[in-house]
Amino acid sequence: MTRIAIINGPNINLLGKREPEIYGAVSFDAFFKNLQDNYPNIQFSYFQSNIEGEIIDKLQEVGYTYDGIILNAAAYTHTSVGIGDAVKAIKTPVIEVHISNVWARESFRHNSYISAHAKGVIAGFGLQSYELALLSFLDNKK
Ligand code: DQA
Repeated sequence: MTRIAIINGPNINLLGKREPEIYGAVSFDAFFKNLQDNYPNIQFSYFQSNIEGEIIDKLQEVGYTYDGIILNAAAYTHTSVGIGDAVKAIKTPVIEVHISNVWARESFRHNSYISAHAKGVIAGFGLQSYELALLSFLDNKK
């Protein structure tokens, strides 16, 4: 069975209540339940943390055994050398995702410490960014 880990960074737990004009009105839990229902043959793991080191721990934990990692490091994308180094170190491919189009926003969101080590980047499609990343992993498994 294909194993896919979804890892979310800070404030993604507030999805649905947080700046809905940017991030939408759906909670991540509701979206994730739907995703699991729509892809019953995928074994998902889901982790969210507001703490940088916990995200690094999780990347190290899943990064040698899972088939793919979908990572939205949120604000840490733009600040964390440590998360970038972890993505570089592990063996499992990582797709960096963002709900919003970070390049259409403030310039401090244009830099990512993750992109150079990721398989690719998907941004700006709302929660569909996660599903597009998933489809890419599944396509590559065929
Ligand atoms: C985000 C974009 C980041 O710049 C921001 O800090 C987030 C969410 C997104 O999914 O659009 O918290 O990663």
